[in-house]
Amino acid sequence: LVASMEEVEETYIMIKPDGVQRGLVGEIISRFERKGFKLTGLKLFQCPKELAEEHYKDLKTKPFFPKLIEYITSGPVVCMAWEGVGVVASARKLIGATNPLQAEPGTIRGDLAVQTGRNVVHGSDSPENGKREIDLWFKEGELCQWVHVQAPWLR
Ligand code: TYD
Repeated sequence: LVASMEEVEETYIMIKPDGVQRGLVGEIISRFERKGFKLTGLKLFQCPKELAEEHYKDLKTKPFFPKLIEYITSGPVVCMAWEGVGVVASARKLIGATNPLQAEPGTIRGDLAVQTGRNVVHGSDSPENGKREIDLWFKEGELCQWVHVQAPWLR
């Protein structure tokens, strides 16, 4: 009841090239689906360098930035928009810590990854960035609004 009064948020989730290469797409999508969030956008996409740089622009001065861009553009990614009450923070919990060795078991990174530089999935860190990143990665007409007919409390 309390949660139903909270605002619906949106977040940008991306399966990185290592997740696609390792055949983890279904596994990762399942975790968000089973939790009860709503998928509103989904595509397989080869990311151009400029888009990767814009997405990670806050990290531009970090020493690992060039390797990060190389990694993200090394093969197709799966771009997703997910919606729900509290979805931004909850998705970050489902994903786990940036360094997979520090990520809790039960999280995506905790269960499926070992290296920070190959941590299989991205999730927006704030509702503002969720909106910014969905705008950045999706064109108009690529997102779908729909209702969970079987579970209308999931919004
Ligand atoms: P960051 O936004 O700090 O983490 P998160 O993805 O958990 O929000 O960093 C973005 C990505 O940059 C991170 O997923 C992997 C890469 N990265 C490195 O390669 N080395 C590092 O030391 C850090 C902090 C991040």
